[in-house]
Amino acid sequence: MRIIQISDTHLSPGKTHFADNWAPLARWIGEQCPDLVIHTGDVTVDGADLEEDLRSTAELMRGLGVRFRTVPGNHDVGDPRHDHQPVNEARLERWRAHFGPDRWVEDVEDCRLIGFDAMLLGSGEREEALQARWLEAVMNDARDRRIAWFLHRPLFLDNPDEDDTGYWSVKPQPRVGLLDLTRLHSVALVASGHLHKAHNFVRDGTRYIWAPSSAFLVGPRMKAPPMPGEHRLGAVVYEIEGRNIEPRIIAVPGLSPHWIDDVAEEVYPRRPDKSAALPSGLRNR
Ligand SMILES: [Fe+2]
Ligand SMILES: [Fe+2]
Repeated sequence: MRIIQISDTHLSPGKTHFADNWAPLARWIGEQCPDLVIHTGDVTVDGADLEEDLRSTAELMRGLGVRFRTVPGNHDVGDPRHDHQPVNEARLERWRAHFGPDRWVEDVEDCRLIGFDAMLLGSGEREEALQARWLEAVMNDARDRRIAWFLHRPLFLDNPDEDDTGYWSVKPQPRVGLLDLTRLHSVALVASGHLHKAHNFVRDGTRYIWAPSSAFLVGPRMKAPPMPGEHRLGAVVYEIEGRNIEPRIIAVPGLSPHWIDDVAEEVYPRRPDKSAALPSGLRNR
């Protein structure tokens, strides 16, 4: 069984800055003949506010001609407790209308793949508690299948015990419960996106994969905190056989290495009420 993870395509019919990378990505996916494609979010430039971004990008995903699953990113459904673009019922409903559920289970060989919505973590939304109960239930129900998680935001950047990294990783409070679950169920893999960096490492018996974006790289002007990983574009191929999950981060041929730093003001303009000193990453724009 071959599964491809793609992430952070940041597509929009109105903002086509990264659109040239879709065709080579789609072509390469076709050549790989995957059984399933998993998109780990930031599918759109601004699906959180523009339904047209969701509609047109879902159409592109269907055009792949491969079964796919998606989990939303902050640019698709908003951020927990964000001042201007909070994740909420209305945004989640819009997402689901175009991409289907934001949490799901796929049983593959002797593994259970679980996708869930990282944007709910720490949101206080009713759905957050429902998702937490659902996650525990589907993990308890996995029996002896190996478990792999797919979510947009990484659980941590450098260290499971680190403080709040703001925009960049899951908040410490929800992180604790999730890390407890990974230990309790010996989770084999946690695969995420969001950072636009490629990284593959093992911590406490769990493999962590940061899937690279296929759209753009994030440079120094975005003020990311220090973190490991490589600045490169691409995708991830997982070969799954029995209980074995073999990931490979791939440099997809033909992708143009855009840098968000060069076009941030056009793609994610600052809000008029924000001072220039505030932006950290793309969140407060
Ligand atoms: Fe992204
Ligand atoms: Fe993101």
